[in-house]
Amino acid sequence: MKKTLTVLLVLAMALSFGACKGGESDVKTYKVGVSIYQFDDNFMTLYRNEMANYFKTLETATVKYDVQIMDAANDMATQTEQVETFISQGVDVLVINLVQTSSAESIYNLVQESGIPCVLINREPDAAYIGEKMCYVGADARQSGTYQGEIVTELPNMGDINSDGVISYIMIKGDPENTDAQYRTEFSVKALTDAGCKVKNLFEQTGNWAQSEGQELVATALAQYGNEVEVVFCNNDAMALGAYQSIVAANRTIGTDIYLLGVDALTECCQMVIDGKMTGTVFNDHVKQSHAAVDAAVKFINGQANEKYYWIDYTKVNSVDAAQTVIDIFATK
Ligand code: BGC
Repeated sequence: MKKTLTVLLVLAMALSFGACKGGESDVKTYKVGVSIYQFDDNFMTLYRNEMANYFKTLETATVKYDVQIMDAANDMATQTEQVETFISQGVDVLVINLVQTSSAESIYNLVQESGIPCVLINREPDAAYIGEKMCYVGADARQSGTYQGEIVTELPNMGDINSDGVISYIMIKGDPENTDAQYRTEFSVKALTDAGCKVKNLFEQTGNWAQSEGQELVATALAQYGNEVEVVFCNNDAMALGAYQSIVAANRTIGTDIYLLGVDALTECCQMVIDGKMTGTVFNDHVKQSHAAVDAAVKFINGQANEKYYWIDYTKVNSVDAAQTVIDIFATK
């Protein structure tokens, strides 16, 4: 009797151990290699954090994602190395935020040769470099530029503070080779002229998306053009934050003798819109963009096809309600 019991016990243990082992080997971990153009970028920081969070929410008892996010430190050679390493590690999918869209061809060649699917994000390359098992997730920067201009034309004085019939503006631009910078620069002004306004471009310089550069450039422009400056367009909010510091330092008052526009709708900028310290910004929806990028990556992992392009809409943020809505979206993240 005792012997039978022992045999049964050993059998049960062996069975449960087997089941346990079987359970573990049923877990499939997919490797995801992400290269971000630069960690030191407010918008891309929100984007990459949300991407990591969202991958976690998609995990199940049997599916896991090993997501490695690398900082290309704004250096194309570093990014190329990262992509090569990911490929040699045999990742299941790549997500790439190009350092330079003008160098898209070299990344395209590497990726296509490897046969690993790839989701490109945020910096749109030429259509020729979105190849087999590749797609692009972004937002149409023309829309954000148009919204910036419309925020100005919706003001009671249409941005013409000194009533001389002309909107005199300065333009602080992002990285010049980036379509987001090019389109925002072009379409913000186009929205003014489309509304029948006359415009005068006093000053147009590149601030490379960076707060410190935005601050310096706006200080220079205000020193040079003083009260002539009615509208300050910044291609993103980081530069608008810098612009704000220089506007205050020059004893100018937003909403009274100068207007300030950005793009991204960072929380601090939404708060500034609420407090009247910024005329408006445009929500560059990093939540929807990062989710669309992850969804596309997962589809590729599962062997499914993707569209070539996924576009996420921008939203105008020029009222307390609109700003609060975006702050609430951030608060739930
Ligand atoms: C954002 C910028 C950011 C840039 C990075 C743009 O879409 O508006 O804030 O610096 O992407 O590529």
